[in-house]
Amino acid sequence: MSEHQPLIVIQITDTHLFADRDREMMGLKTAHSFRAVLDRIRELNLAPDVFLLTGDLSQDETPESYEYLQSLITSFDIPTYWIPGNHDNPDAIVSILTHNSIRSDKSFDLGNWHFILLNSQCPGKVYGDLSSASLQQLESQLEHNRDRPTFIALHHHPIAIASEWMDEINLRNSDEFLAIIDRHPQVKIVICGHIHQEFETTRNGVIYLGCPSTCVQFKPRATELTFDETATPGFRVFTLHADGEYTSKVERTNYQLPRYPNPRELQKRVKNMAHQ
Ligand SMILES: [Fe+2]
Repeated sequence: MSEHQPLIVIQITDTHLFADRDREMMGLKTAHSFRAVLDRIRELNLAPDVFLLTGDLSQDETPESYEYLQSLITSFDIPTYWIPGNHDNPDAIVSILTHNSIRSDKSFDLGNWHFILLNSQCPGKVYGDLSSASLQQLESQLEHNRDRPTFIALHHHPIAIASEWMDEINLRNSDEFLAIIDRHPQVKIVICGHIHQEFETTRNGVIYLGCPSTCVQFKPRATELTFDETATPGFRVFTLHADGEYTSKVERTNYQLPRYPNPRELQKRVKNMAHQ
């Protein structure tokens, strides 16, 4: 592709799929809402150059959930890259999400842009962490690609989003991560999954963006886990220009939301999920 043509990038995140395609998370059938998102992408005729899947791809961590994801995504025949989230099974994801249009590479060039995907999964934990090897790799990648506008993706949010419970399960060593970003002005965009809501802030000239999940949404600025009863499943679309300029926009489906459990019922369900 020409280096001067704008790139269309689509972020799809937190699909939380189960082996059973009719299984619900908080009353929402995650495979159904994911298919609604994919239908919306088709409907919009966006001609994407790449899909970025930013973690929590499976909820039950079964091979079947990844196989289903793979079959739906590869039907687009668009280069697709992914990172794991706190819910993902490292062995299953690595062995299954490597076929056809799905790539396991964690850095690549496209058009004039450089992309870096970071694994912030911390085994057994809901919060995230970047290993010292990942931080070193990030630094060296940025050293070697100083001339290309750079796009970074990781699952956990490296910047507080003003939601107390969510900010307790953030990227733990975000100070180290942000210090590296600060040293490399070619970094333009940092995206995350995990927060299940639209978010945008700018820090030292870099934009940090969060994205709706393809299933349930969390209410912004909530002090404790609260589902957003008005926000529908969605995704984010980026247009990246060769000179480093960009635009981005959240798109949503009109998927019918369930009636979410009340706070007491919710506590019970969350406890049960933790034991599944
Ligand atoms: Fe998630």
